[in-house]
Amino acid sequence: MNLKWGVLLVVLLLVQVANVLGGRDFYNILGVSRNANANQIKKAYRKLAKELHPDRNDGDAEAHEKFQDLGAAYEVLSDPEKRKIYDRHGEEGMQKMGGGGGGGDPFSSFFGDFFGGGGHEHEEGTPKGADVVVDLWVTLEEIYNGHFVEVKRKKSVYKQTSGTRQCNCRHEMRTQQMGAGRFQMFQVKVCDECPNVKLVTETRILEVEVEVGVEQGQEQVFVGEGEPHIEGDPGDLKFVIRLQKHNVFERKGLDLFTNVTISLEQALNGFEMEIKHLDGHIVHVSREKITWPGAKIRKKDEGMPAVDDNNRHGVLYITFDVEFPRGELTAEQKKLISEILKQDGSAPKVYNGLQGY
Ligand SMILES: *[C@@H]1O[C@H](CO)[C@@H](O)[C@H](O)[C@H]1NC(C)=O
Repeated sequence: MNLKWGVLLVVLLLVQVANVLGGRDFYNILGVSRNANANQIKKAYRKLAKELHPDRNDGDAEAHEKFQDLGAAYEVLSDPEKRKIYDRHGEEGMQKMGGGGGGGDPFSSFFGDFFGGGGHEHEEGTPKGADVVVDLWVTLEEIYNGHFVEVKRKKSVYKQTSGTRQCNCRHEMRTQQMGAGRFQMFQVKVCDECPNVKLVTETRILEVEVEVGVEQGQEQVFVGEGEPHIEGDPGDLKFVIRLQKHNVFERKGLDLFTNVTISLEQALNGFEMEIKHLDGHIVHVSREKITWPGAKIRKKDEGMPAVDDNNRHGVLYITFDVEFPRGELTAEQKKLISEILKQDGSAPKVYNGLQGY
């Protein structure tokens, strides 16, 4: 009897272990920790998907399989409900509960196509619906750190319905002999019979990635997400990155520019200050020497990250502006300042500002 319970216990334990081991480790596949947040999961997925995408790995069976695993991992971990089930019961548990990670490719439809139209061939001559171009206004923080913008798209699609309609209509020339050496030509309209269609509205969630360091004006294309065409393919949906004005930094290429106003006293005596960067890290600025209005300092590697290599950064240029005190000094104070500055030998110079100085 004791033995019997023991066997049962072992069997139960084995089932447990099998449950955990049964199925793929989606966190491992994505290379993220088990407490990764949604943004980290999207980032990891997008990065790996770029590497493993079939368009880049022609016929490589191993890459293909990895891509499938990746799709399945993403499908589950990006969905809070599925992720919860997966965390508790593993992949096998998920399948038992009817929510299996299929391993499709949510990729191109979901994240847009960054291979410049590869994959989806548009046949020459097939009519195509209009492209929809949308400005996507993003902040400098979002470009510095990378970001995903969830866009809910309501779009019209044609769905087949009962009956038929005329389609592919064209005009054809016909010739009729009217007698010896006499012909008459005339045009007829010829159409095919196609299944009837109706326009229905579908809602889809699209994830638009704001890549780290992305340039203003860069497009992200969602193939086939544009306007539908009754006899052809739908157009594309294009998001164009636009940069919102930032209240501290200005971007020019890889470089960042900012202005700092210091007091006259700080300008003369030196100062120490901190600037909060776009990801929250602190840039220390300190000067011992005199700082004149318009003086610039360069902070290497504190500019924007390059889009092709996020570890490469531009320069941060800080331009100083000096705030002078108002009012008037006493005779005693004036004397002290003259003694310190020793500039009284130089008379004010009159110059033509147009010629520079
Ligand atoms: C800094 O000041 C200059 C001159 O006033 C101005 O043109 C520039 O836009 C300012 N830069 C930022 C980042 O505010």
